[in-house]
Amino acid sequence: MIKLDLSRAFYQEKMASYDSRIKEIHEMITKKTGLGNDFLGWTDYVNSLDDNLVNKIQTLANKVRKECDVLVVIGIGGSYLGARAAIDAINGLYKKDKLEIIYLGNTLSPYYVSQVMEYLKDKKLAVNVVSKSGTTIEPAIAFRFVKPLVEKVWKERANEFIFATTDKQKGALKPLADNKGYTTFVIPDDVGGRYSVITPVGLFPMACAGLDIKSFINGVKHAMVTYSKENNIAYQYALSRYLHFINNKNVEFFINYEPHLNMINEWLKQLFGESEGKQNQGLLPASLCFTTDLHSMGQFCQEGHDVFFETTIRLQNYQNDIAIPAMENDADNLNYLVNKKISYVNDIAIDSTIKAHCLGNRSNIVIELDKLDEYNLGELFYFFMISCACSAYLLNVNPFNQPGVEVYKKEMKDLLKK
Ligand code: PA5
Repeated sequence: MIKLDLSRAFYQEKMASYDSRIKEIHEMITKKTGLGNDFLGWTDYVNSLDDNLVNKIQTLANKVRKECDVLVVIGIGGSYLGARAAIDAINGLYKKDKLEIIYLGNTLSPYYVSQVMEYLKDKKLAVNVVSKSGTTIEPAIAFRFVKPLVEKVWKERANEFIFATTDKQKGALKPLADNKGYTTFVIPDDVGGRYSVITPVGLFPMACAGLDIKSFINGVKHAMVTYSKENNIAYQYALSRYLHFINNKNVEFFINYEPHLNMINEWLKQLFGESEGKQNQGLLPASLCFTTDLHSMGQFCQEGHDVFFETTIRLQNYQNDIAIPAMENDADNLNYLVNKKISYVNDIAIDSTIKAHCLGNRSNIVIELDKLDEYNLGELFYFFMISCACSAYLLNVNPFNQPGVEVYKKEMKDLLKK
């Protein structure tokens, strides 16, 4: 379950005057009449997700888990960030599973690509190449590297371990997959990359990583019902963001206190940055991981240029916890913490930081998650996606296109062809 705490956020008194605008936007989303309405398929996608597809995803994932050492997930932007965010959030950052997940196709770094290729040599690997357009250069190049490795290790069985997630007909990947006989998963026409984590784009890698995708889907279904009501916390969050924006708080810091949630911040940066950052509009989404970044950005947050507000994602319960041990002779004077859980110190750090930043006249939004599991994660993704749609509509921009991204893609292709 998600709770929104706006008690330390600015501009709450102005929220009621937007009731009719929120009502209008709610209709634009639920009746699919707003800008970019042909990309609102994610709002009710889980209703059309049939058991056959979920079972197919699970069965193939079980096979990968049983027979492989590594799954390489190839994709960039919306084609990998959601899956990676979910997998890190549930499994943590250090390998706890037999199957390792490696991400490729999200960079052109020669160092990274070479190092991964060296690492993959002789591994029993499967690959899931994910590209909605099927034309993006980073994943396409990565697939060129990985495909021969899969073929080398699995020989005539190679096709069993190559999975393509793409548009049902557009782009280069679908014909290639059909031609070779790879298993394909479809990204629906009406779901854009950064809203696709609830489709096979997210579901297949998550299932391979051992996540409970049925529970995740149930969390999305629960969210669909919860946020289909006009008066919901996702819209309140969107409105609060908007009020910060029009009052010159132009930067939103997404803050967590858990390094394994950093990819959620990356996913959020894409979601909000690409959905709102157009026509000279949009909050600049930035991210911080406290307490780590309190020792680098804490000074700025407390006393720096007053252009931002903070959105903290806070866990009510922790997946793992550990008690603080004693130190002989109390050398660091911290023995009063002996046997206290580290979560106790983390919680106090969160309360103290929010209090300190409020004393520095910083606005704070807090999003509380009672537990970090697949079900809640499903709700969290949906919460942010519907907030983002509402937020972009408040700015009168299309939340679902990304004309600016296409410009760099085109320029790069033109130059490469010369
Ligand atoms: O949100 C988006 O649509 C984009 O950021 C894409 O996710 C990204 O460009 C990757 O595109 P594709 O999946 O077509 O390779």
